[in-house]
Amino acid sequence: MPASKKILFLAGDGIGPEVMAQVRRVMDWLNQTGRTAFEVEDALVGGAAYDAQGTPLHDDTVALALAADAVLLGAVGGPKWDASLPFELKPERGLLRLRKDLELFANLRPAMVFDALAEASTLKTELVSGLDVMIVRELTGGVYFGQPRGISALPNGERRGVNTQVYDTHEIVRVAKVAFDLAGKRGKRLCSVEKANVMESGLLWREEVTKLGADYPEIALSHMYADNCAMQLVRQPKQFDVIVTDNLFGDILSDCAAMLTGSLGMLPSASLGAADAAGNRRAMYEPVHGSAPDIAGQDKANPLATILSFSMMLRYSFDLAEEADLVDNAVRGVLAKGLRTGDIFQPGKTLVGTTGMGDALLAEMAQLAN
Ligand SMILES: NC(=O)c1ccc[n+]([C@@H]2O[C@H](COP(=O)([O-])OP(=O)(O)OC[C@H]3O[C@@H](n4cnc5c(N)ncnc54)[C@H](O)[C@@H]3O)[C@@H](O)[C@H]2O)c1
Repeated sequence: MPASKKILFLAGDGIGPEVMAQVRRVMDWLNQTGRTAFEVEDALVGGAAYDAQGTPLHDDTVALALAADAVLLGAVGGPKWDASLPFELKPERGLLRLRKDLELFANLRPAMVFDALAEASTLKTELVSGLDVMIVRELTGGVYFGQPRGISALPNGERRGVNTQVYDTHEIVRVAKVAFDLAGKRGKRLCSVEKANVMESGLLWREEVTKLGADYPEIALSHMYADNCAMQLVRQPKQFDVIVTDNLFGDILSDCAAMLTGSLGMLPSASLGAADAAGNRRAMYEPVHGSAPDIAGQDKANPLATILSFSMMLRYSFDLAEEADLVDNAVRGVLAKGLRTGDIFQPGKTLVGTTGMGDALLAEMAQLAN
């Protein structure tokens, strides 16, 4: 019997519940076929939580998240709450609090191109076909959080805006460890990205990553300046396996890499925290897209980004590589068969809805498993 694992489902708003329902079917199939023993708990987040509980994230939900082996989140937000609510009650605050309370310091953003969708990229098909890059972004430090910060008045009548890039050794080492470990489970190549030529924080970053590299002789470590990395990502993206970088550069480079894939409805992500003594990490998995209020409730949403986020959970929280491969290969299979939700539709393909995509995926999984 596989060990029982507790998953917290936070479906959220808009298309969140619709795409999460399809993940639930995939998870039920894995349980029913004896591959996994997941126990699911459901709770509210975002606007749905505000409506029912008066806050975008209730303390009880934080407690559930802390007690779970992993959290899967749909999406939050929507016009119903955007305009009317004060800043601290907005749906997005629920998400930010969750990331903070779980101390999720490493954000994993894969940019994967499924061959069947390679033509959707703005780059030439041969440059992106088969692309599989993982960007690991430091999420809780750097210039977005460093002190001093603020806008002040100067004696000469001008104003000054200040933000400070700060990294301490432990912040660099813990995110770099995540990246080295990931590279070990993938192509065994890690590229560390900073601007050591002009920034002291970048110099420290490079020194610490290099030092840590001695513990990972099987990983080929390289270093690159962030400006060059931006160029290389659009010039020759397949040269990369895993990239690790700071909060600011990671923000920009992960969006750049994501767009190489050409479709928001296909992009998963993970945010990881510290490992406990047994090696288990706090972790939250979620699609990159938002709550898509324009198509919510119409069975039009692409569930694949959320299903691929679940596959990351299988791989990175539970070491279930075989099951994760099964899910990924089923996604590849349904795309190869020409099934498309509206967001990735091309003439000549078969248009399906959210549930139809879920049906096809389950059928594909069953076929692949035989
Ligand atoms: N992590 C999150 O929960 C998250 C992220 C981004 C935006 N948001 C929130 O979502 C709301 C809408 O934001 P937005 O419109 O800027 O971004 P969005 O990602 O929700 O939608 C952008 C466009 O992409 C389409 N789209 C997105 N996901 C799709 C999917 N799975 N299948 C098919 N089409 C899809 C939408 O229909 C829309 O046209 C806002 O309230 C925003 O604050 C939440």
